[in-house]
Amino acid sequence: MPDTILAIESSCDDTSAAVVRDGFLLSSLIANQDVHISYGGVVPELASRAHQANIVPVVDQAIIRAGIGVDEIDAVAFTRGPGLLGSLLVGTSFAKGFALSRDIPLVEVNHLHAHVMAHWISQQGAENRLPGFPFLCLLVSGGHTQLIVVKDFMTLEQLGSTIDDAAGEAFDKCAKVMGLPYPGGPVIDKLASKGDPGRFRFAKPRIEGLDFSFSGLKTNFLYFLRDAVKENTNFIDDNLEDLCASLQSTIVTILMDKLVLASRKTGIRQVGIAGGVAANSGLRNALLEESKKRGWDIFIPPVRFTTDNAAMIAITGYFKYLKGEFASHGVTPLARYAI
Ligand code: KG4
Ligand code: ZN
Repeated sequence: MPDTILAIESSCDDTSAAVVRDGFLLSSLIANQDVHISYGGVVPELASRAHQANIVPVVDQAIIRAGIGVDEIDAVAFTRGPGLLGSLLVGTSFAKGFALSRDIPLVEVNHLHAHVMAHWISQQGAENRLPGFPFLCLLVSGGHTQLIVVKDFMTLEQLGSTIDDAAGEAFDKCAKVMGLPYPGGPVIDKLASKGDPGRFRFAKPRIEGLDFSFSGLKTNFLYFLRDAVKENTNFIDDNLEDLCASLQSTIVTILMDKLVLASRKTGIRQVGIAGGVAANSGLRNALLEESKKRGWDIFIPPVRFTTDNAAMIAITGYFKYLKGEFASHGVTPLARYAI
């Protein structure tokens, strides 16, 4: 009998559902929430309401597109945290209701664990080159920036993390300063491709060891623009592509320097990136370049598995299901949930 897992992801502003069977992805759907764009950031209350509206049709479509019947689902996995509590509550409650009505196990998944596990999503007909252990992963998202050693599917060790802002926050906050829409990361990425990364220099933090810091860069960028705009009110528009390219290059260098250090310290040469910022073309290229120099075996997930998605929850849930790691119906979501 195959093992079939339905997964729900609702930690922030994407309502997503996916189905995995025997480790292979059958379907994965995301309903994005455009409602936040005009506010320049995610509004938690609106996110919860949108999840509530989206979750049934998204799950329905995920099951239909997987080509399975509801009675073929063996367990339901859901994101327990970290994330916005109201958003998490919608997914958690839905998963509990589904599990109860079908009399199947409930599997809780840590969103950060799942971002890393995106490297193990297999698809029928795809190449499916999967990392072995130990695996060194740079997890970079809107809320987190961490260096992680994956020892096995369930054992992850954090080597370092940000002491202030996350890399995604640095992208998004600097984009806001330039008047770009939210989320700014993908917008900067696109504009950067036409700009000169060496045109402007911004502050790189001096943090010992494997921790990160991005708040100094953000402040430096803000003050630099404030002074430049005093001289020329059109400075941002006149230099937008070069500003984006220079900022992106600074962020990527900060990330890559620590990844190189982590590989040197641990001796691990199987290296990957995960999380929303891993969609960044500058970071993806930098990892490719570094791997050629250092002989690393690198793993870069498809873009759709780097930003928030339920496929990563499904694959993590699948491995937990195989181990019999089930949640009780008393389980509650966690806004903060360490890996
Ligand atoms: O993993 P994710 O989808 O959600 C969280 O768990 O936070 O990450 C979202 C973050 C946002 O900060 C967004 O701006 C950033 O990922 N991001 C990017 C790109 N695509 C998404 N940052 C830089 N370049 C991109 N192409
Ligand atoms: Zn995420």
